[in-house]
Amino acid sequence: MDNRPVGIFDSGVGGLTVVKEVMKQLNNESIIYFGDTARVPYGTKSKNTVTKFAIQIIRFLLQQDVKAIIIACNTVNSNCIEELRNVFPDVIIEGVVEPGVKMALSATKNGRIGVIGTEATIASNRYTTLLTENHKDYRVYNKACPLFVPLVEDGWQNKQVTIMVIEEYLKELKTKDIDTLILGCTHYPILHTALKQVVGDNIQLINPANEAAHSMGERLLEKNIAATHSLGHKFYVSDHPEKMKDMAKMFLGYTINEVVEIDIENY
Ligand code: DGL
Repeated sequence: MDNRPVGIFDSGVGGLTVVKEVMKQLNNESIIYFGDTARVPYGTKSKNTVTKFAIQIIRFLLQQDVKAIIIACNTVNSNCIEELRNVFPDVIIEGVVEPGVKMALSATKNGRIGVIGTEATIASNRYTTLLTENHKDYRVYNKACPLFVPLVEDGWQNKQVTIMVIEEYLKELKTKDIDTLILGCTHYPILHTALKQVVGDNIQLINPANEAAHSMGERLLEKNIAATHSLGHKFYVSDHPEKMKDMAKMFLGYTINEVVEIDIENY
């Protein structure tokens, strides 16, 4: 038993979709969340820059005495999770991409899977590599959807224009006979209803956060470090704490009272 917190981080507010799942599934755990709101987006940045940012954030989280870390950001996962595990071998580092792959592989019936994410996530080809590692005959169709993040951040998830943008991005994917679509970006679960409207009932949408929370729970049990009760959650950002509070209503479904701003460049 270990009541120290689990650290969760993202390039910004989107990782709250992962926080939501962890709160739901692992309700004895305390969470320390960091959103890099000063340096978001990561999705357009290079691997080197994203890796450097993630190392600073993990140093900050370790200083808060976290017992394990979930990298909520798909862009970080896709570009450098292995490097981060090598740099920090003593802490459990879970991601969202591996859990997303696991979910998609058990969901697909026809072995035709779509992946949507930021430009950096799609360019990394990480989802395709993992999905086809043991299934050489599976077909993976990728599409970067850079406009989805700003649409969500502006709270436009139910607007007609968002449906039109989704239709445009998914036009080609819809012709590929996929039966499973991985939402490979923190923000996309917020678009679930709109995406469903565009892709219809024959394509299952995969939110990797579900399995990420589940597999973190299993790791904690395995290592005998699951918490007995939650000591509460703390939220940190590198800029605009008020914006995080506003966004929390949409991503978490309730208000966060305190968000602390820190200078992540110091770590
Ligand atoms: N959090 C990022 C991801 O999941 C999306 C936002 C960004 O580009 O930083 O890939």
